[in-house]
Amino acid sequence: MQQRTTVSHQKIDRKGIVLAGGSGSRLFPLTLGVSKQLLPIFDKPLIYYPLSTLIMAGVREVLFITNPQDLAAFQRLLGDGSQLGMEFSYAVQTEPRGLADAYRIGRSFLAGAKSILILGDNIFFGHGIANMLASAWESEGASVFASLVKDPHRFGVVELDTNGKPISIKEKPKVTKSRWAVTGLYFLDERACDYADDVMPSERGEIEIVSILERYLDDAELSVERLHRGFAWLDAGTHESLHQASDFVKTLQDRQGLLVSSPEELAYRKGLISLEALEKLAWEVRQSSYGEALLALVDQERNA
Ligand code: TTP
Repeated sequence: MQQRTTVSHQKIDRKGIVLAGGSGSRLFPLTLGVSKQLLPIFDKPLIYYPLSTLIMAGVREVLFITNPQDLAAFQRLLGDGSQLGMEFSYAVQTEPRGLADAYRIGRSFLAGAKSILILGDNIFFGHGIANMLASAWESEGASVFASLVKDPHRFGVVELDTNGKPISIKEKPKVTKSRWAVTGLYFLDERACDYADDVMPSERGEIEIVSILERYLDDAELSVERLHRGFAWLDAGTHESLHQASDFVKTLQDRQGLLVSSPEELAYRKGLISLEALEKLAWEVRQSSYGEALLALVDQERNA
């Protein structure tokens, strides 16, 4: 029997993993030459959005898992993380074996820590996200987020009882009573790596994250937070959703004059970097509207 580590009375930092490999076949030919997660969502690469969610949650150390051929491009874009007051590491996934693979590849990086796994093509935006992330951070066992969808058979689906407690969880069920899809953001405790080792490939040949979640569910240690109406959960996996996500971000930014999911802004707001460091980052990209927006933010903060 596996022994659980006692972590009470001590805040153990969670580490973050961004799973940014995959084949991106639903985006062919866009992804024949470039990783899906490096494609633009309006003014910034897709990977900035899940990274921003991790920064918002409070993560300082992040492992990016990429395809071997894309590793250099991710490193060129994101570096070692020190520019954001963070620590970035990289690992490769040689083939898309499934989402649970993140916990096999990530074992040595996690080194027994609790984690947050986010899929590299998932975008979260909405009022109350900071509180939602903060409460999941403190949770025991496993915490996931569910969103209502029109086409549940495309997702991992969770069936909930009248109190919102999970009853069952299934990957891409052909028939289901539930329309609650499990989103690509998972807060798991230190047992996830051992559970991942036990996962057998599913009928479609992947090691499924749902198999790990089922273990927590069996022990009544899976909690599911439902994303409320109006909260945006987007994945940029198809031409249609990639375009919609860009439109969404452009509309919000044009309207409010605020950046959506800027890692530089969030690192500053989280106190990871100074205003001077933010200004330096903004200056490096000042030729673009993204750089201009960051410089405007610096001005605003200086005059606040
Ligand atoms: P998916 O969208 O399920 O798969 P994919 O990106 O390979 O695209 P397609 O279905 O069009 O071929 O993956 C969700 C996210 O998880 C995406 O950001 C890629 C990532 N991923 C991996 O990094 N490794 C994997 O083994 C799998 C299955 C996905």
